[in-house]
Amino acid sequence: MASYGILLSLLYLYQLCTSLVAAQTVDNHYADNDLYALGQLWAEWSQSTPDGQHNLAGWNGAVKTYPPCAQTSPWRGVFCNAKPKSEWGRDVWDFEIVGLTLRDASIVGKLPPAIGNLTNLVTLILTDNPELTGPLPEELGYLLSLFDIDLHGNGFTGPIPKFFYQSFGFLQSLDLSGNQLTGQLPENNSISYRTLQTMNMSYNLFSGEIPPDLLIYLGNLVSADFSSNRFTGGLPLLVYPNKTKILDLDFSNNLINGSLPTMSGHRTIRFFNASENLLSGELDSALLSNISTLTTLDLSRNQFTGTIPDLSTLEKLEYLDLSYNNFTPEPFPTWANNFRSLRKLMLKGVSFTGSVPSSIVAGFENLQTLGLDDNNMTGTLDINRLLAVPNRSRSLKLISLTNNKISNVAYSDYVYNLNIKFNLSGNPYCDLAGKSDNDLRRCVCHQQCFYTEEVENSKKIIITVIAVTLPTSLLFCYIAYGIFFCKSRRERRKLICEANQKFAEYEVKPTIYTYSEVRTITNDFHPDVKLGQGHYGAVYKGTFPNGTQVAVKQLFTKSQQSLDVFLNEIVLVAAVKHRNLVKLKGCCIRKDQRLLVHDYVELGDLEQVLFEHKRNINLSWPIRRNICLGVAHGIHYLHSLAQPRIIHRDIKASNILLDKNLEPKIADFGLALLFPDDQSHVMTIHIAGTRGYLAPEYATLGQLSEKVDVYSFGVLLFEIISGRRNIDMKLPEEKVYLLEWAWKLLDENNVTELLDPTLNLQIDEEMELQRFLNIAFLCVHSSADRRPNMSRVVAMLQGDMDLEILELTRLRDESRLNNRFDALVPYSSSSCDLASGNSYRNSAVFVSSTPSGSRDGLLSTASRTIQMSDTEWIR
Ligand SMILES: *[C@@H]1O[C@H](CO)[C@@H](O)[C@H](O)[C@H]1NC(C)=O
Ligand SMILES: *[C@@H]1O[C@H](CO)[C@@H](O)[C@H](O)[C@H]1NC(C)=O
Ligand SMILES: *[C@@H]1O[C@H](CO)[C@@H](O)[C@H](O)[C@H]1NC(C)=O
Ligand SMILES: *[C@@H]1O[C@H](CO)[C@@H](O)[C@H](O)[C@H]1NC(C)=O
Ligand SMILES: *[C@@H]1O[C@H](CO)[C@@H](O)[C@H](O)[C@H]1NC(C)=O
Ligand SMILES: *[C@@H]1O[C@H](CO)[C@@H](O)[C@H](O)[C@H]1NC(C)=O
Ligand SMILES: *[C@@H]1O[C@H](CO)[C@@H](O)[C@H](O)[C@H]1NC(C)=O
Ligand SMILES: *[C@@H]1O[C@H](CO)[C@@H](O)[C@H](O)[C@H]1NC(C)=O
Ligand SMILES: *[C@@H]1O[C@H](CO)[C@@H](O)[C@H](O)[C@H]1NC(C)=O
Ligand SMILES: *[C@@H]1O[C@H](CO)[C@@H](O)[C@H](O)[C@H]1NC(C)=O
Repeated sequence: MASYGILLSLLYLYQLCTSLVAAQTVDNHYADNDLYALGQLWAEWSQSTPDGQHNLAGWNGAVKTYPPCAQTSPWRGVFCNAKPKSEWGRDVWDFEIVGLTLRDASIVGKLPPAIGNLTNLVTLILTDNPELTGPLPEELGYLLSLFDIDLHGNGFTGPIPKFFYQSFGFLQSLDLSGNQLTGQLPENNSISYRTLQTMNMSYNLFSGEIPPDLLIYLGNLVSADFSSNRFTGGLPLLVYPNKTKILDLDFSNNLINGSLPTMSGHRTIRFFNASENLLSGELDSALLSNISTLTTLDLSRNQFTGTIPDLSTLEKLEYLDLSYNNFTPEPFPTWANNFRSLRKLMLKGVSFTGSVPSSIVAGFENLQTLGLDDNNMTGTLDINRLLAVPNRSRSLKLISLTNNKISNVAYSDYVYNLNIKFNLSGNPYCDLAGKSDNDLRRCVCHQQCFYTEEVENSKKIIITVIAVTLPTSLLFCYIAYGIFFCKSRRERRKLICEANQKFAEYEVKPTIYTYSEVRTITNDFHPDVKLGQGHYGAVYKGTFPNGTQVAVKQLFTKSQQSLDVFLNEIVLVAAVKHRNLVKLKGCCIRKDQRLLVHDYVELGDLEQVLFEHKRNINLSWPIRRNICLGVAHGIHYLHSLAQPRIIHRDIKASNILLDKNLEPKIADFGLALLFPDDQSHVMTIHIAGTRGYLAPEYATLGQLSEKVDVYSFGVLLFEIISGRRNIDMKLPEEKVYLLEWAWKLLDENNVTELLDPTLNLQIDEEMELQRFLNIAFLCVHSSADRRPNMSRVVAMLQGDMDLEILELTRLRDESRLNNRFDALVPYSSSSCDLASGNSYRNSAVFVSSTPSGSRDGLLSTASRTIQMSDTEWIR
């Protein structure tokens, strides 16, 4: 918890200090070694690199005159950390270079040894500069602060410098892939970086043996890629119970020989690829039993012998490839009858004999692709029989049987009813193709099975045209109808014309519906079309005769609320337009009735979908991420972009609606509080909101600021990540209150317990979830001041590079300063005291321009800085 406290205060101070430094004229001071190093890089690269104006924008030989992080002309890709200190009554800022990022910058030249003088560097990212060549300098080993080294896609040659391995105390991610590096990987006893989590050595010319105990001395490794090199010798040992965290291992396309070491009982591995090597020996299923985590196994293109092992005990295996090995010729095995998890099965070139049995589909309940090419299967392929297998997969898309010996195909239905693709080219059956074509032969030999496509298309066009023209014209009628009523009754005319005047004044055009119209479309507010009830009123579904659906909100009339106040609100809400906010279509006013008409959002609210599992929608992580981001964008818009700004006050799952594309829309912001522009928070008397989502200062003291929404958003994040309500009385006592449980798990360093167990996560997704959790913790900080504002939340959710470096720098400084967490109690109130603060408390990060067009790259680095709470030195 303490480390989060530091992050919180730094974020806060960062905001404060950034504004301060902009306001004051200060003296910026750079360390000599930093300027020297950048000067040397400039000297090496400036002459040879083409289009320096762009590729090395801002870089200049006169380092003192044009310092790297100057606000006027920052150097491309150079990131600084600024630490204020007071010197003889003047404010002086110490700048240190903490990041160097030049992606795809066409750099020509070598990496000069002076890189080793950038001793504060936290991230070094020089990628996709194919003409950045020469050896990796030994001096890289002086960069003791590095978290992230990414040098992929360059032209570096020679071995990894020996010294390189002995240094790093913080390194989490090392990517040297796609160079021409040679030599061996280091011996185990020369490596000291236990913090390493991802390592990519692929596409180089490395040789020699991979150290057998690699996974134990790199015990924090999560993902390692050694593919496409020239490694020889055997595979390293894979099973060290409880001593490795590896999820993702790739040894493919090397010269690795020997047999497969046992993986049975492995507790973490998910992806294993040893394809295209020289592995041999019998592939005994005992080597691969009891691995409940494995999803992908590729052992294709080796020299394994014996029979094909029964791997159906691997209960999560989705992708299995054993193609092109030297297995004993035999018919298709029957072990597969109960292989439910498998989606893709590749058994090409494994010498299957006999006719195609129905067991090739039986029991594979989720199979999508089956590759049986280059075998020796004979006889008749009886498609009727395959389709009749009761427990075959309904999602089967392709059965590929090319280059076998199948002489006949039996199928009795019309070929265009065949929705599984068969490929039999290269079989005797297809030898006649061209000479005596029939539909079936055309279908399975050339995959031309559908002759009716054109007809279907023209139907579609007609339907679309009708669908587009109808509603518009009907809508027109409704507007005319409304105007007619406006003229016909004096009282109503007065109300409505007053409203119209107001709308014209503010240039908004909500439709004014008549009361009888609203009654008709809601079937006189019939309970059957009631969608829900909130603090402000009841919501009904309305359906216009043309089928357009709307949500009608009938507000509980505040007794004395004047028309003017209501209209003011409508004007504001009608002006608010954002894809993540429910759109107001119009309103209806009648005596003391106040009705709002909104777009109808198809899938209902997140509470129903996520917690009550209505509508049977599987909320995978990418969908949930999109919901989190959408909601964050919506709130950010309300807080800072809407005019005037709006505090929602009631962010919660049941106020997040999902449209048919699962895009979230925040509802109910219409009657939220307007944000007074001149005050940072206001006191309110009536506390509105929902239990469990209320920020503490609001619940207890009635203090309302936009941070109240940040808090509720944090709670919502936790709910989305964990798939449960924030208060759930049905759970065991310690889990009833989600936040309480989360803080407890954080203390125990066990936050992964929070993740929704039904999420089937990929490795990169799990890393991203970890980031989202971190952000959720920031948002629910008990002190409103320490919560980030929504624009920072959005930036962090999107994997903002500035914040990433800020976080990394913080971690480094923290551990350097001997974990003096107590200096920063998360609940204390503090301000940015420039004169007395010690340097790390007040550190702020300034970021120079980042290369344009590389957001994706930035995102991926951010998501690689993972599981930081997991590394030992933070504890
Ligand atoms: C740069 O680093 C080298 C090697 O560590 C050192 O000898 C040299 O003094 C440094 N230069 C500066 C200007 O710091
Ligand atoms: C390793 O690097 C290669 C080439 O840069 C890339 O294609 C591959 O996806 C990377 N492997 C991992 C596990 O990220
Ligand atoms: C390095 O490997 C050797 C043999 O493979 C082993 O005896 C030794 O304990 C290992 N050293 C470390 C630090 O793991
Ligand atoms: C590994 O951890 C599991 C539970 O986390 C425990 O049951 C098992 O005994 C441990 N195995 C070893 C060899 O320490
Ligand atoms: C395994 O590696 C080979 C060679 O690098 C590659 O072609 C294949 O697609 C990989 N398999 C999987 C499942 O990624
Ligand atoms: C593996 O290849 C090496 C040569 O690269 C050879 O010395 C060794 O005997 C081979 N091992 C096996 C088990 O075939
Ligand atoms: C797999 O697990 C089962 C039960 O957990 C055990 O009986 C069996 O011996 C294990 N098999 C191997 C090869 O470890
Ligand atoms: C198919 O069988 C023939 C002879 O029966 C054999 O020569 C050939 O190698 C086999 N092909 C495959 C791919 O197993
Ligand atoms: C699938 O069907 C086959 C025969 O059609 C049968 O032998 C097998 O037991 C079935 N498997 C399951 C899981 O029902
Ligand atoms: C069918 O297999 C042949 C031979 O492998 C291949 O060239 C062709 O692209 C395949 N057709 C489809 C539609 O996959």
